[in-house]
Amino acid sequence: MRVILLGPPGSGKGTQANLLQERFSIPKISTGDILRAAVSDGTDLGSQAKTYMDQGQLVPDEIVVGLIKERIKEPDCDNGFILDGFPRTIVQAEKLGEMLRSMGQDIDVVVDLEVGKDELLVRLTGRSTCKECGAMYHKTTHPPKVAGRCDACGGELYQRDDDNEETILKRLTVYKQQTEPLKNYYEKQGKLKTAPGRGTVDEIFSRVCEMVN
Ligand code: AP5
Ligand code: ZN
Repeated sequence: MRVILLGPPGSGKGTQANLLQERFSIPKISTGDILRAAVSDGTDLGSQAKTYMDQGQLVPDEIVVGLIKERIKEPDCDNGFILDGFPRTIVQAEKLGEMLRSMGQDIDVVVDLEVGKDELLVRLTGRSTCKECGAMYHKTTHPPKVAGRCDACGGELYQRDDDNEETILKRLTVYKQQTEPLKNYYEKQGKLKTAPGRGTVDEIFSRVCEMVN
């Protein structure tokens, strides 16, 4: 099963991808997570990416395409994967298509999570993430039991540098301009399924499971 999760910042791609990887035992591949790990490790890739990420801009296509090319060749991807945050431009989608074709594979379904702008802002300004296991919390809708600590592993929770209102608004604009055209791109291929992203995490997860099965 090869799935793409599409949707604006804060639509729940990461949340749903975490659940899908557990349910179907296939890896989640998040370009955002890979890039943030590179930033925190202080690698060359991280220092290149940070400037773009802090401004809410997309990292250049050739960088992320290179990352994905390496990652999907790994053995744990043989039975499929969930792409979270990739592709984000038509060029990335075309390159992904080429890579998969050369491996005799294809994307099965693209799930688009639709959530309105006001809700996205509330979600992102209240989000915190576990440094250790990546679990996600929200200060009002899903607070941790102990402030600043992950329920699952006790790891420290942090707020992303790009989760301030100014950068969030930029990310939303970039999404509209560069990523939303992918809906039409995958619709034409008969792969697009739209999941209303409002509702509880569990409600949305059931809908997404029906769509990918
Ligand atoms: P990335 O990390 O991909 O961020 P994003 O697309 O902006 O998406 P988010 O991670 O912010 O949101 P999400 O949809 O995963 O929602 P989440 O589940 O966390 O990218 C960051 C940056 O990296 C980009 O700006 C770019 O610079 C760079 N980058 C990454 N990929 C790239 C690429 N392919 N090309 C170029 N550049 C790239 O949920 C959000 C919050 O809502 C959480 O607090 C969660 O608990 C809560 N929540 C989730 N579901 C619900 C629900 N149903 N009800 C209530 N709350 C909910
Ligand atoms: Zn944790």
